[in-house]
Amino acid sequence: MGRYGYDGNGLPSQIDQTEVHMTFVHPSFGQIDDSRTIIFDTTLRDGEQSPGFSMNLEEKLRMAEALADLGVDVIEAGFPVASKGDFESVSEIARIVRGAVVCALARSGGRNDIQAAGEAIAHAERGRIHNFISTSPLHMKYKLRMEPETVLEIITEGNKAARNLTDDVEWSAEDGSRTEPDFLCRCVEAAIKAGATTINIPDTVGYATPEDMEKIFAMLKARVPGADSVIFSAHNHNDLGLGVANTLASLRGGARQIECTINGIGERAGNAALEEIVMAIRTRNDQYPYTNRIVTEKLLRLSRMLATITGFDVQPNKAIVGRNAFAHESGIHQDGILKNAATYEIMTPESVGWSKTSLVMGKHSGRAAFRDKLVALGYGEMADDRLNDAFARFKDLADRKKVVYDEDIVALVDDEARDHARIRFHGLEVSSGSKRPAEATLEIEVDGEMIEASATGNGPVDAAFHAIRSAFPHDARLALYSVGAVTEGTDAQARTTVRLEEDGRLVDGQGADADTVVSAVRAYLHALNKLLVKRTRAEPEALEA
Ligand code: KIV
Ligand code: ZN
Repeated sequence: MGRYGYDGNGLPSQIDQTEVHMTFVHPSFGQIDDSRTIIFDTTLRDGEQSPGFSMNLEEKLRMAEALADLGVDVIEAGFPVASKGDFESVSEIARIVRGAVVCALARSGGRNDIQAAGEAIAHAERGRIHNFISTSPLHMKYKLRMEPETVLEIITEGNKAARNLTDDVEWSAEDGSRTEPDFLCRCVEAAIKAGATTINIPDTVGYATPEDMEKIFAMLKARVPGADSVIFSAHNHNDLGLGVANTLASLRGGARQIECTINGIGERAGNAALEEIVMAIRTRNDQYPYTNRIVTEKLLRLSRMLATITGFDVQPNKAIVGRNAFAHESGIHQDGILKNAATYEIMTPESVGWSKTSLVMGKHSGRAAFRDKLVALGYGEMADDRLNDAFARFKDLADRKKVVYDEDIVALVDDEARDHARIRFHGLEVSSGSKRPAEATLEIEVDGEMIEASATGNGPVDAAFHAIRSAFPHDARLALYSVGAVTEGTDAQARTTVRLEEDGRLVDGQGADADTVVSAVRAYLHALNKLLVKRTRAEPEALEA
């Protein structure tokens, strides 16, 4: 790591490239070397709070367990005071997930925030409270309507209160990148004195450049008393597409915690993408000589799991996890790849989880082979009842489809995992064609009670959706219906997304099945179940402060 001087104007004057290797004793991680970076994932908090990305408890738990398995150090699980649902999901994740610190967000000056965060992480193996308040002139004047001195007092009170509940306390200067340097130093000093062990400087609005971020961290490390006793953290939004570049520059400035999300989801244009940062560090370790615990071979699996849960696929050309990230179309490139893959590939597809061939199993494959396959696909050992349900659907699919690919199994198992909700799909019969209106008869279970309903419609999907409305009357409006194929061929499974809108709230549901109409019904029911979860979620109190 380089060392920085300070020119008296709050900015570093020189960069001395002398290597220094310090060690640091962290309350959750113990003795850590200066080259070690802490990967802090906020998919379930910053990611989940963006429109259309909400997840239910079961989905959050599944993501949290997969994140811990990926090697993430800290999982920011939610904002407990925001709603009963958020409180429950943070508590459940804290109770169940092992191997990662579970973190709860709180406003430094919120009425019940820190108490709620402390209660939510009480059962964590290792728990963190992350408190924040805005420090930029713009936010203090217009959003908080507070004087800087009041903000300083709140920082002290908030961090002391958090520190009474856990040893692992993070404080964030919201809009930190647009904060006046002298005031930022005073805020950070106050937070450290009050007990914060991680100091996060977010580029909340994605305005900073890599040069800005490097300088901010270098300045804080050079100027703030006590800076050596904390970890500095980077949290970069992507409004100018600079999230990852800003994060790498923050490391150069001295940050050693990286806040990021799977697929880069998050407020507005999102947060810096975990998979891109980790692979940049791994591939260009000559420039970024830092270590982390991420098992990169599991990156694709996490990306897909999140896309399946939220219904938002990544764009085909997305780095690392996009469908085209390792696809070579032009003849010249293909020729080069065949002669030596390094000609056009800077990392191997396998290193991020793409398998060479995804052709796998058929109708003669047994339960043991299926279980092994799930482990290889990153699902770990499944409980017997879940395994049996998934295996039954696999057998059914293998009877209907000539070859079953990895992608089919992923779609099927993720779909199965969604099927533990209030409204469950049991069966569907459809007749359609050019001679008479389509007719659908649907069987669903609602809170344990079987209901059958029939309806006609303008095509089989329309008829099936009318049947859902008749079996379970509701006011939600269909806002989007889209179908894609999981693999190639006419017997490919259809993967459907359905978006429902109710009182301005949007939810997306997904379904997969070899039958397109069944896939659509599953997606519709998934969305409806999500809406029911949302309805039971209390509206957050005003969270501006
Ligand atoms: O972007 C931001 O400033 C945040 C803070 C709450 C850390 O997400
Ligand atoms: Zn953020």
